[in-house]
Amino acid sequence: MPSRRIFLQLISGTAMGVALGLPRPLRAAEASLDFDPEGYEVLTEVIETAAGAVSVTYRFWRAVPYVARPVDLAHQSLNVSVPVEIDGVAVDAARVPVLLANAVGGYMPSSVVEAKGVGDTGPMRPPAGMKPPARGMTEAPSGSAAMMAGGKRVSNAKLALAAGLVVVEPGARGRTLVDAGGVHYGVAPAAIVDLKAAVRYLRRNRAVIPGDMERIVSSGTSAGGALSALLAASGDGAEYAPYLAEIGAAEESDAIFAAGCWCPITDLEHADMAYEWMWGTNPPAEGAVDAALTAELARGFAGYQAGLGLATPTGAALTVDSYPEHLLARHLRPEATAFLAALGEAERAEYLAAHPEIGFEGGEAVFDWAGFLAHVGARKKGLPAFDAFDLSTGENNLFGAGTVVARHFTEWSLRRATGDAAAVLEADIPAKLRLMNPMAWLAEGHEGRARHWWLRVGAKDTDTSLTVVGNLEARLQGLGDAVDTRLYWDEGHGANTDAAAFLDWIKALPA
Ligand code: DHB
Repeated sequence: MPSRRIFLQLISGTAMGVALGLPRPLRAAEASLDFDPEGYEVLTEVIETAAGAVSVTYRFWRAVPYVARPVDLAHQSLNVSVPVEIDGVAVDAARVPVLLANAVGGYMPSSVVEAKGVGDTGPMRPPAGMKPPARGMTEAPSGSAAMMAGGKRVSNAKLALAAGLVVVEPGARGRTLVDAGGVHYGVAPAAIVDLKAAVRYLRRNRAVIPGDMERIVSSGTSAGGALSALLAASGDGAEYAPYLAEIGAAEESDAIFAAGCWCPITDLEHADMAYEWMWGTNPPAEGAVDAALTAELARGFAGYQAGLGLATPTGAALTVDSYPEHLLARHLRPEATAFLAALGEAERAEYLAAHPEIGFEGGEAVFDWAGFLAHVGARKKGLPAFDAFDLSTGENNLFGAGTVVARHFTEWSLRRATGDAAAVLEADIPAKLRLMNPMAWLAEGHEGRARHWWLRVGAKDTDTSLTVVGNLEARLQGLGDAVDTRLYWDEGHGANTDAAAFLDWIKALPA
C-alpha cells in the first residue's frame, strides 16, 4: 500500500495525463538533462554555398535526449553541430547565434537519431503503425533540409554551419505516431511542446553548449515553418507548462530571439476560408469544387479578416477589399519586376510571350489580381482544403486524440459533414487550436514572442492561402517587430531561393 503522499502523486499524475490527453506509451527510462561536453565526434564536410564550396570541420553530438521523461527518444532527441574550422581557419563559436533547424514536414514525426552529420534528416521515414490520412498533402513533406531552390536541395542547417553558426537540429513527435495501445501520441500539441523542450534544454546547458542561447533563431518549412512561427510567437506561453512538465522539460525559458518561416501552414482553423477566398476561382488540380461552398467560405474569410483589425503599411485597413492590391503592390509586382529584370532580353521576351497575363512596361511588371490568379493556375487542394468532410487530411489527423485518428477542428466542416447545424467541436479542440496557432499569440501581442522574423513563401504555392504569410507580416508590423518578407516569384511549395541572405540577416540582427 503506497503512502498517502505517493498515492496522491500517482493519482494526480494520471489525472493530469488524462486531462491533457497525453498518452503514456512505452516510456523510456528517465534521461539526463545534462549535456555531455565530451560526447562529440569530429567531422569534416564540404558544403556548397552560394559563394562556392566551404570545408567545415565541426564537433557533432548526435541523438542527445532533451527531456527527462521522454515518451519517444527517437523523436525527443537533438543533434548539435559546432564549427571548429572553416576553410582552414579556426572558428570561435562560443558566442555565435544558434540556428534551431527543425525538419518537420506534413506535421509528421521527425527524427535526427540516425543522421550522419549536420543537415542529414534522411529520407522521410514511413509513419509508424498506420497509413495516415493525408489528402492534399505533399507526398514527401518538405523538411528544413529539403527545401528546393531551382531543383537543388537547400539545407539551412548546412549553410548555417558553413557560415560559422552553431546548429541544433531537434527531432519532434508528429501526428502519425501510434503506441501499442493504438493511442496517437504525436498529435497536437506534441510537436510544439517538443520544440519548446529542446529550447529549454539548450538554455539549461548554456554553460557547456557553445553558442549564444539568447540568440536562438528557429527555422522550418511548411508544417515546420508553422512550428517555427509558433515557437517564436508563443515563447514561455503558460498554457504549454503542463505538457512540458509531463515530459520532464528543463525549467527554463523557451522564448527565442528570431524565426525563419518558409511557407508556414498555419492559422489552420481559418485556412479553409482563406483558401477559398484566395484560390477559390482557380481550377482544382483534380476533381471539382462546389462554387457555392467556395463562396460561402470566402464570405466567412471576409468577416474573419475584418475582425483581425490589421492594417497595411500605409495605415489602410487590411480587408478582403484592400488585400489584392496590397499583395500586388507590396510583394507580387516588385518580385515579378526583379525576376523579369534579371532575365536577358531574349529570355524575357520568351517569358512574356508565354505568359500574356504578365506585362512589362517601363522596366516594371504589370498585372492585376485576375492576371496573377491566372498566372498561378491550378489550385493544389480540394474543398475544404484543410478540415475535410471525410476527415482525410493530415490536419484532421493532427487534431486526433487518444485512439481517435482524426477529428474536425472547424465548426463549419463539422456541421456540413454531420448534417447537424448545431454540432459543436469537441471540448478540447479550442484550447488545442490556440496551442497550435501563432496568430492567437500575436493577436495579444504576447510578450514572450521573438521580435525578428523572416517570412518566405513561393507566390505559386497553393498549399495554403498567401494571406497566411500576409497576415503574419501585417500583425508583426503592427506590433512593431522587425519582419523581412518575400513572396518568391514563380516558386512553389518549399522554395528557399535566398538562403544566403537569411544567414546574412541572422548575423546582422541587433543585440
Ligand atoms: C505540409 C504541406 C501541406 O499542404 C499541409 O497541409 C501541411 C504540411 C508540408 O509540406 O509540411
